[in-house]
Amino acid sequence: MATIAAEMKSKGIDVINLSVGEPDFNTPVNIINAGKTAMDEGYTKYTAGPGMIEFRDAICEKLKRENGIDYDRSNILVSNGEKQSLSTVCQALFEEGDEVVVFRPYWVSFPEFVRLANAEPIIVNTLEEQNYEPDFDDLKIKTSEKIKGVIINSPSNPTGGVWSEEAIKNILNIAKKNNWVLISDECYEKIVYDRDFISIEKINRDNNINATVITCMSLSKTYAMTGWRIGYASGPIDIIKAMSKIQGQATSCANSIGQKAGIEALLGNQEHTNKMILEYKKRRDLIVALLNHLSGVTCVTPKGAFYAFPDFSHYLNKYVDGKLLKDTFAISEYILEYAKVVTVPGDGFGSPKHLRFSYATNKKTIKEGIKRIEKALKRII
Ligand SMILES: Cc1ncc(COP(=O)(O)O)c(C=O)c1O
Repeated sequence: MATIAAEMKSKGIDVINLSVGEPDFNTPVNIINAGKTAMDEGYTKYTAGPGMIEFRDAICEKLKRENGIDYDRSNILVSNGEKQSLSTVCQALFEEGDEVVVFRPYWVSFPEFVRLANAEPIIVNTLEEQNYEPDFDDLKIKTSEKIKGVIINSPSNPTGGVWSEEAIKNILNIAKKNNWVLISDECYEKIVYDRDFISIEKINRDNNINATVITCMSLSKTYAMTGWRIGYASGPIDIIKAMSKIQGQATSCANSIGQKAGIEALLGNQEHTNKMILEYKKRRDLIVALLNHLSGVTCVTPKGAFYAFPDFSHYLNKYVDGKLLKDTFAISEYILEYAKVVTVPGDGFGSPKHLRFSYATNKKTIKEGIKRIEKALKRII
């Protein structure tokens, strides 16, 4: 979709992009200035493989203050974006013959991280009507001796679902019982709307469950720093050490300027992040209302991240301009061609009924995009 949209844009066509997976805000000025100072002061060289000591210490301080998790710097690995931490943890933990639970709808990269480690993703359903929490019956049916890990992403991309503490305790207990490592992708930890976010490792500790948890976090979304490529993993020392060895061979260390700026991001003024979240909430309320107003479309209210995930199945297997809309790729393609609006087909996330809309864009764009889609949908028979 993005490629077609780019081609259309290059021809001067007015395309509205509701597919972006990154904040439309710029990095806050205090963080940019910290990056500039880092360069002026000569922090332009390789750093320690697992990350600068002062940045790992800043991460520990943040984890303690905001997540209630006490860790030492040896429990931390800094990566070139959280994506690298997630990919590396799969390389460190899994091998051929292993299976790893991934919940559907999933972020597209999860099954691929598992496959890159030569292991097999086991796709388990979630319940849309219950914030996309796991379908524990489905998990039970699919549980086997081969499973070595489980990947969780709450708040979720693409659904915006945030799991309840009960669901998390349940999965932690299952992980403990079966000796699975639980990988928690907490990329959207700060982008929650209706209640405070609680880290899975905090729930693990508070309830003395003692499951093995690796938490992966990112500066990308919280601080609008996607291009700086800074993320980190925290967890038991033996796993962090193994990850560090692999990452060291792959990339030596994370970006030095980004790590220095990251200290300011984590420990400096948080006002910008709070403002961004308030703005996302207004946009969420707007887009969900507009989507639910579309004939045949239903959208549950996402509790986190910046995606809405409406059900478009009413339009599946209908016709427009003589073409059959056989799947969400076809619906998304038609919306792009006719309405000039970019959306992401749910089939890519293992969800054949939905489209993903990002609201990391301004309200005017959201309103215009949905207005165009409304017109397009009326032509489907
Ligand atoms: C669910 C999820 N996890 C991880 C990432 C990766 O973040 P980073 O930019 O830190 O690599 C993304 C980015 O889109 C994401 O949506």
